Amino acid sequence: MTSVEEQYSILDKAEAYIRSKIQGPLSKPKTLIIAGSGLSGISDLLSEQFEVPYTDIPGFKASTVSGHAGKLIFGYIGDNKVPVVCMAGRLHFYEGYTFEETTFPIRLAKQLDVEMVVVTNAAGGINANFKAGDLMIIYDHINFPGLSGWHPLRGPNLEKFGPRFQPLSDAYDLELRQLFFQQKEKLGIQRSIHEGTYFYAAGPTYESRSESRLIRTLGGDAVGMSTVPEVIVARHCGLRVLALSLITNECVVDPPASAFDKNPKALDEGMATHEEVLEYANQASKDVQKIIEATVNEF
Ligand code: HPA
Repeated sequence: MTSVEEQYSILDKAEAYIRSKIQGPLSKPKTLIIAGSGLSGISDLLSEQFEVPYTDIPGFKASTVSGHAGKLIFGYIGDNKVPVVCMAGRLHFYEGYTFEETTFPIRLAKQLDVEMVVVTNAAGGINANFKAGDLMIIYDHINFPGLSGWHPLRGPNLEKFGPRFQPLSDAYDLELRQLFFQQKEKLGIQRSIHEGTYFYAAGPTYESRSESRLIRTLGGDAVGMSTVPEVIVARHCGLRVLALSLITNECVVDPPASAFDKNPKALDEGMATHEEVLEYANQASKDVQKIIEATVNEF
């Protein structure tokens, strides 16, 4: 585990690097937008773009997942020309990175004076009413790895950023959620948008049928392999959070085919694939982009 002093020092170096590359209003982005699987098209919304590859920034790790580009894109969004920074591609624990590494961009954003984080992800639908292609605004989460000690705030507390014991009962900003739904109505977007609880599973496997059933029993509405560590670190340093899941597949909760079945169901019935996840993300990304643009513009 890196010492507190080392963590502060590498963050300062990363901040200094960014500031050496970008000057003016763009160097003070108001919002950090994290683009999840297949959603990196969000960065197309930005005008006067300036890109910084992750690998050029001290302390920043590279994204290794296909569909995740691996660069910070600075630019302006909406009619109000709000300066933002977009993470095209995020870092996951399942890639082998520590939580310290996966959440590094959040603290860097804080040092760059960001006030709000918009987090997007692809997720499996656990709630029986959710269909592939729906969206879910996250209003709460279950940090399953965290409950048994795999927690992003484990270790010495970074006092400069926030308290030792961070409350999470209001992690997902009500005002921002209300603003999001107002913008959806205003834009006349038809896609179903639910509110629900995101269940964080570390991955990288998709869930077995019994795991999906367990997650439903525990109160999860959608399941995914990201977002929660970033949200926790964002709340720890006082950033406001808006988080959005795109439901890319419906998780199967029924038991599998039995060896005793006369006509067993197809073995791949309901099987989630990364290709399917990317395809649905692609189809929905225009709606996601429009509402995020409008929400960030009004914030
Ligand atoms: N499970 C976990 N993560 C996911 C899924 C899923 O079914 N779909 C997209 N990301």
